[in-house]
Amino acid sequence: MQAGQTGTTQKAAAPRRKSLHVITWGCQMNVYDSARMADVLAPLGYAPAAGPEDADMVILNTCHIRDKAAEKVFSELGRLRLLKQEREAAGGRMVLAVAGCVAQAEGAEILARAPFVDIVLGPQTYHRLPELVARASRAAGAVIDTDFPAESKFDLLPEQTEPQEVVGFLTIQEGCDRFCSFCVVPYTRGAESSRPAAAIIAEARRMAALGTREVVLLGQNVNAWHGEGPDGATWNLARLLHALADLPGVLRLRYTTSHPRDMDDDLIAAHRDIPALMPFLHLPVQSGSDRILAAMNRRHDADTYRRLIDRLRAARPDLALSTDFIVGHPGETEADFEATLRLAEDIGFALAYSFKYSPRPGTPAASLPVQVPEEDKDRRLQTLQALLRRQQNDFNAACAGRTLPVLFTGLGRHPGQIAGRSPYLQPVHLTGPASLIGTEVPVKIEAAHPNSLSATLPWEYAAA
Ligand code: SAH
Ligand code: SF4
Ligand code: F3S
Repeated sequence: MQAGQTGTTQKAAAPRRKSLHVITWGCQMNVYDSARMADVLAPLGYAPAAGPEDADMVILNTCHIRDKAAEKVFSELGRLRLLKQEREAAGGRMVLAVAGCVAQAEGAEILARAPFVDIVLGPQTYHRLPELVARASRAAGAVIDTDFPAESKFDLLPEQTEPQEVVGFLTIQEGCDRFCSFCVVPYTRGAESSRPAAAIIAEARRMAALGTREVVLLGQNVNAWHGEGPDGATWNLARLLHALADLPGVLRLRYTTSHPRDMDDDLIAAHRDIPALMPFLHLPVQSGSDRILAAMNRRHDADTYRRLIDRLRAARPDLALSTDFIVGHPGETEADFEATLRLAEDIGFALAYSFKYSPRPGTPAASLPVQVPEEDKDRRLQTLQALLRRQQNDFNAACAGRTLPVLFTGLGRHPGQIAGRSPYLQPVHLTGPASLIGTEVPVKIEAAHPNSLSATLPWEYAAA
């Protein structure tokens, strides 16, 4: 999972036009949540704003995973404060809301550091946004709602009715009970909970009817999903994937992010048995050292991970793997770090994200006495990233000359180009007609670049 920033301006049907701008940081679950917040506000008349300058309401949907991610929120708030002051000086109003994981973890601190914020809401309470907006317009001070309510927000969200992206996110599970030593997610998102299969299937069916061709199932620990099936039995993720693969219009399925301990036999077999399930799996390992894996409370060792990958590759020989690493967890020695390098060498990742350990308030690892010096973390990260970059380049280079099915998702960067993605999540661009967007076409990969592939269309599609 990647923590980036996306400025999204959401689509909405508007009875009385007001405008909304949502800025999203963090994982795909936040991207999903931002779209749902826009859905919830649409009946109140909120339509897309071109940017924060034009918006009547700005929502910052935040991420707390590393210190840097959280600090970005406060610098953005500094900028928005000026906009809000200008608006008020001109007799107007801007509602400023902070949502997501920083709001959940640091609600009170946000209001202390940024008293001009109107609404603070956690990831589990955004179905209450209309009420919070109404309260904020009446109240003198800020309104805060960081409950973990008994009702599920999913039951209270409006259904999507607008055209959907070709690649669509669908949250099926939230929260996490694994309590890795370094991680804030169990505190910001709360206990693990799974949506019922019928609700997920209905949402996927709607997404496909509205244009989605690749459905990405999301959860903080998505392979721990176990929900009530339409038949009353408890389903596992493999069973859900089988049901989703049968829906009309769903060409591709993925799920992210998984924990190695929750990869069961059925799910491994699903990679063999479901053609729509893409041959790409993001399976965070974090470290290759058994000592550090134990300190991280990951509950598996490095060889268990290697054997799991062997079984997955036996089930789906073309499976490409992606992972997350943390370097410099408290107590990590050079020998531990070398074990991480060995594990990366052994597996050969198509893609990987690596981070310097960032102490998070309230997590067990943050109070361990043996913190790793910053310069050691820097050096280890550089060494690991050089290896991972080489592996990614090798993987991409090996695709040149092959024919791969590409799902086209939109226009390319240059005129006449369209862009899409390969089964292995590589961005692919080529010269071709926009009419192919939303379809999957086998294309010839001509060249590999560090982060993408270029390709040509078979002649029979070129004039489509
Ligand atoms: N549920 C996901 C989300 C974790 S956040 C998962 O289990 O993978 C995504 C990644 O951020 C993690 O896999 C981990 O590599 C990294 N991460 C989490 N906490 C961190 C911390 N305190 N410092 C550095 N990286 C961290
Ligand atoms: Fe965090 Fe670990 Fe849960 Fe992933 S599995 S969300 S890293 S506690
Ligand atoms: Fe960040 Fe919260 Fe996702 S901390 S990674 S936005 S679950």
